[in-house]
Amino acid sequence: IREELSSLHGIPLYKSFVEGWPQVEAFQARPDDLLIATYPKSGTTWLSEILDMIYHDGDVEKCRRDAIFNRVPFLEMKVPEMPSGIELLEKTPSPRLVKTHLPVHLLPTSFWEKGCKVIYMARNPKDVVISYYYFYQMAKIHPDPGTLGKFLETFMAGKAAYGSWYEHVQGWWEKRQEKQLLYLFYEDMKKDPWQEVRKILRFLGKEVAEGTLARILHHTSFQEMKKNPATNYETIPTPMMAHSLSPFLRKGISGDWKNHFTVAQNECFDQHYREHMAGCDLCFQME
Ligand code: PPS
Repeated sequence: IREELSSLHGIPLYKSFVEGWPQVEAFQARPDDLLIATYPKSGTTWLSEILDMIYHDGDVEKCRRDAIFNRVPFLEMKVPEMPSGIELLEKTPSPRLVKTHLPVHLLPTSFWEKGCKVIYMARNPKDVVISYYYFYQMAKIHPDPGTLGKFLETFMAGKAAYGSWYEHVQGWWEKRQEKQLLYLFYEDMKKDPWQEVRKILRFLGKEVAEGTLARILHHTSFQEMKKNPATNYETIPTPMMAHSLSPFLRKGISGDWKNHFTVAQNECFDQHYREHMAGCDLCFQME
């Protein structure tokens, strides 16, 4: 089932997603939709589970009601023999949580017109590319990634699914000035999840008791999410995701790139990073 990527307005993307694009473009958001936007492998599932827990006041059982990809539908997702993101969203009662990996300029305009709140989470590109490399291997919708060296080239050239990481993180960063957008970093969430979840609560105008916050943080820790069938993607059929090749919740740490990059690869990546981030005030923690 591996296939080469197609193109959506110049962005490399899965063929079946491109086929479903007209429905996505015409999607009608509701004012109380909350959009979770990320470049792939940047902590989307983690943030989604935190938000579903907040929406259910820390009720663990309610958050086990279904798999995360059904509780937080993936807007542009369309694969054979599964309900599309759009179909799932139509059946989801408000207030809905919506996941997307779209670059900011391709987001259906309805989200802006309806004034929906957006939470964006970014992760440093070295950990993203490693996480993506393993994901390419286990999720068979992707073309074969080849060696890590080859995949680094693909990623740096903006040819991995969803295109250039640089354009993605910068495009959403610029939007935060004018829109209701909270921009978070995976590394901050790792370092101080209490502080980051409090930021989310303030942004949403919600309050929870300290005990509830503690429960949310415990339930959304990497160890808990890894063993939870409602968050670990193990209910996706094996031909689509081979968890034996690499689990979806793989390591959940910052700095794993150091276990993979050679010195030469790191120098080349740093040089490329400097060139593509020049003039941008976004700062990433690589360590
Ligand atoms: S996807 O397919 O793009 O939606 O993937 P995404 O959920 O964005 O990213 C997957 C990576 O996030 C890690 N993850 C976590 N890290 C820390 N804590 C928690 N709770 C958590 N949940 C998911 C997951 O392990 C992937 O990163 P890697 O580095 O591959 O482990």
